[in-house]
Amino acid sequence: MKFSDSFLDEIRGRLPVSQVVSRRVPLKRAGREWKGLSPFNREKTPSFTVNDQKGFYHCFSSGKHGDIFTFLMETEGLSFPEAVERLAGEAGLPLPKPDPQYERVAKERLSLLDALEAAAKLFEEALQSAAGREALTYAEGRGLARETLQEFRIGHAPSSRDALKSALIKQGFTEVQLLDAGLLIKPDDGRPTYDRFRNRLTIPILDAKSRVVAFGARALDPQAEPKYLNSPETRLFDKGSTVFNFARARGPAFDRGELIVVEGYMDVIALHQVGFANVAATLGTAFTERQMEILWQLAPEPVICFDGDRAGEAAAARAIDRMLPALREGHSFRFAFLPQGQDPDDLVRSAGPAAFAACVGGARPLIDILWLREKQAARLDTPERRAAFEARLETLLGQITNARVRDHYRREIKNRLFALWREQPRPRQGERAPRVKPRTPAPREKLPPPSVYGFAAIVTLALVNHPWLLDHFAEEVASVEVRDKPLASLLAAVTSAIFEDDLITRERLVARLSEGRHGALFERLMRESPYARVAFLQPETPSDQVEAQFADVIYRWRALPTLNKELAESADQLADMSEAEFERFAALQQQVASVGQHHEADDAGERDANKRFAETVARLKAEHLKRGRRPEKRH
Ligand code: UTP
Ligand code: MN
Repeated sequence: MKFSDSFLDEIRGRLPVSQVVSRRVPLKRAGREWKGLSPFNREKTPSFTVNDQKGFYHCFSSGKHGDIFTFLMETEGLSFPEAVERLAGEAGLPLPKPDPQYERVAKERLSLLDALEAAAKLFEEALQSAAGREALTYAEGRGLARETLQEFRIGHAPSSRDALKSALIKQGFTEVQLLDAGLLIKPDDGRPTYDRFRNRLTIPILDAKSRVVAFGARALDPQAEPKYLNSPETRLFDKGSTVFNFARARGPAFDRGELIVVEGYMDVIALHQVGFANVAATLGTAFTERQMEILWQLAPEPVICFDGDRAGEAAAARAIDRMLPALREGHSFRFAFLPQGQDPDDLVRSAGPAAFAACVGGARPLIDILWLREKQAARLDTPERRAAFEARLETLLGQITNARVRDHYRREIKNRLFALWREQPRPRQGERAPRVKPRTPAPREKLPPPSVYGFAAIVTLALVNHPWLLDHFAEEVASVEVRDKPLASLLAAVTSAIFEDDLITRERLVARLSEGRHGALFERLMRESPYARVAFLQPETPSDQVEAQFADVIYRWRALPTLNKELAESADQLADMSEAEFERFAALQQQVASVGQHHEADDAGERDANKRFAETVARLKAEHLKRGRRPEKRH
């Protein structure tokens, strides 16, 4: 429905922005405005302002700006009409009367909704009745708790030709309505209509307002085909624009900024039961453009789970082709691969929720999966084949319609190609040699440096926690010289494990290394190295931050000898940093400085530079602190 401007203004007039906002964000008066912590970014100092006179909010940390309607859309994932409806209710205004045509259609829809709701109730009751015994046993056998059955309104469609039909007709629904609602099947040969769902466990599919619009129904008889029977498309149910569990997942996904997307009904339900509320499913359909937009309403980069087998890889590969044209700034998908042959339901039951969380935590960005898919499919042993590979990538990237995103993809692919062409001669899959060649160690009588410190330890930890880093920094990692022998060989083991297994995850890597011949050193590194606690090395740190910081560490390390000078030159720039920025900077510098020290520079010049570097950091920090708390940054 289209709302008139005067109606929207009427609502705005009755509800101050601060009133709507303060339910989610505690606000403090600041002159004519209100201030609070941004609901869009984590922050310590408030940069979120609300101006009731002007009727808007502005968030300086994220640049978001809007009125009461956009606030609900941005913080709760409501659509515009939903936000209007909610706020009109709060303002005590009745929604404007729609035109008669609209009203008639709406009425029809309503009767269909009523029919589906009535069917859902009957199915639910049936599951608890004597006739539903077998279905209930099946559900319990799958580990579904009573509360879960209630929450998802799971029911039983009896094993009867027309039990539902006659019960609903008795309630006053017409046969035509039941047909339109997708509950009946009409044979072509003129025989009477009969119930679509028979002897199945029923799972209602809800719309955004939690109204039943369709059913998915799982066969109880293992021989029955199909395993899942779904409602047909109806006036209420458009498969391509439906996401199962949207209404329940919306709040939790929005709050966490993360959405997990799985394939099946039972996956969603099993995950919900063990505490993953931010989960939705696409119900076996290919990703439609509509579905992608819906998923993006809930989170900017939903994590899509695929089976860890060939079929899962193939499904991921197909998904990519559908996703490329839809990508836009800040909006993408990440890919998580489950252990071979297990769906999320199997996994949480066999290995527990933590195993699933680990899988999701290891999700990789779309570009990685695209790159792997193309690289695996291609043979790159002649110049012509390499050229064809480049051309193919170029064509693929041409499918990205958003120019800015396309441009960034081109840049990144160019870098990856650059790194790939440097791997000469290119070893065949499976027998790649680790590219880290330990230098012949100079005889030294000093105590061997503890291997869990030092630059190589950082690199090793970073690669273990974020194996994909190797795709971006192969060249840099290869040039790392590690004089400590055991650590060098551990790092080599890490890089070759990553190179050999194109779908490596942190978990697989950790398992492999703990068991391998470097097990003891590896465990020590994970346990004792101070770097194991550095924020950006944590597995859950977002990949863009990891990448930026890793680049920073690696390049600064390379530049250590000259850094001292540079630092002094950039002192002016440092003076402009906010306290928090400076803290972050100083922490990183110190970390790098200590890397430099532990990197046991043989050359006195380098050692000296490192020392000066550490001193510079210390001095800058002291100066910074002496200046005291800097005034709030202006925006
Ligand atoms: P799966 O065959 O992977 O089933 O289909 P599942 O979800 O693991 O089911 P259980 O655990 O055996 O009960 C994944 C999804 O594909 C759709 C359903 O949405 C299903 O949840 N599907 C599958 C159908 O729509 N029809 C089918 O016949 C099979
Ligand atoms: Mn399953």
